[in-house]
Amino acid sequence: MTSIGIHDIAMATTRYRLDHAALAEAQGIDPEKYRVGIGQDSMSIAAPDEDIVTLAASAALPIIERHGTEGLRTVLVATETGIDQSKAAAVYVHELLGLPSAVRSVELKQACYSATAGLQMAAGLIARDPRQRVLVIATDVAKYDLDSSGEPTQGAAAVAMLVSADPAILELEGPSGVFTDDLMDFWRPNYRVTPIVDGKSSIRAYLRAAEGAWRDYREQGGEPWSAFAAHAYHSPFTKMAAKAHKHLAGLEGVALTPAEAEQSLEVANRYNRRIGNSYTAPVYLALLALLEQRDDLAGELIGLLSYGSGSVAEFFAGRVVEGYREHLRPERTAAWIDDREALTVERYRELHALRAPEDGGDRELPAETAAPFRLEAYRSHQRVYAAR
Ligand code: COA
Repeated sequence: MTSIGIHDIAMATTRYRLDHAALAEAQGIDPEKYRVGIGQDSMSIAAPDEDIVTLAASAALPIIERHGTEGLRTVLVATETGIDQSKAAAVYVHELLGLPSAVRSVELKQACYSATAGLQMAAGLIARDPRQRVLVIATDVAKYDLDSSGEPTQGAAAVAMLVSADPAILELEGPSGVFTDDLMDFWRPNYRVTPIVDGKSSIRAYLRAAEGAWRDYREQGGEPWSAFAAHAYHSPFTKMAAKAHKHLAGLEGVALTPAEAEQSLEVANRYNRRIGNSYTAPVYLALLALLEQRDDLAGELIGLLSYGSGSVAEFFAGRVVEGYREHLRPERTAAWIDDREALTVERYRELHALRAPEDGGDRELPAETAAPFRLEAYRSHQRVYAAR
């Protein structure tokens, strides 16, 4: 059978960042609560002319520049911070990237989980016709209420993946373990900009769902714990990924201390520690960090755990392809993360308060982003995008 998986992968993040030390100082709390307690150093903050569409198109651009559009017949954009109740963000991304009209464009939603659904749908389409390629993009701007417990777990980023037969980077291998349980740990009604979240119950829900997905993976004939060289977890904050890793290892009789669990994920967490929560994207940012920061993974199996509140989880595996390092762009990733400009807490709060006009009023947006695409204006209830 033809192998199917990730043929190319690239990311994008925002113009700005807020350092957790600055937030802690403004809040008058110990900065160690953020650095050590939740495992975060900074979080990406969107400029007024950045959103999920500009992030998604910016992440996907180098992939299209390298591979062109041959065989590309589907674009799936996964997000839980959609900009429209009807029209898919994928259609805007399709336009910005200049893709041919013979491409289907769809948006997927299930909290932080849906990019994984996109990856599996892509694999299904390619199994049916191995000549086809699918662009899957995880893109989100995570925004919580000011002064809420979720405030330090904001962030924003996109990860784009070209899925194909005979992939150059990661082959999907074996079964998926899946899990669904209807509960209310985190949700965002249509009329709200920020979510309603029960933080403590969301941590318990994540661990329960991770366990359910892992157990199902094993029942479906998946590999034992010892087969994995590395893991990539959904990471609303990096300490959560470590909690999940410790929990799953414990189920298999491998007792890790919290420090050991964190150490196991140190490389995987490198990007998320600085970007923060990007909802659908962190599990793929963790994968990207492993691929870009480790040169010893050829032929090795990576376990991926995807979770979305509400709640759905999936555990699946990918085997790293020989020569994978030649297809990555670590300098580009480093530039996205390193070049972000630090915000003062005052400016961050101003950006946090910005809202799209709800009356259809026109508003031109200041040119602040350094990305290849920008949100230029709101006009007549429409978002107007442009290449920069
Ligand atoms: N030094 C070191 N660690 C500290 C500390 C300090 N001064 N102060 C607190 N901590 C630790 C706590 O012990 C805790 O660690 P633990 O979870 O290992 O016990 C951690 O920092 C967080 O402290 P806590 O008091 O639990 O934080 P909180 O009540 O402010 O909220 C979340 C934490 C994650 C619940 C909150 O950020 C949130 O609601 N986030 C959004 C939802 C989310 O991301 N859910 C995850 C599943 S999807």
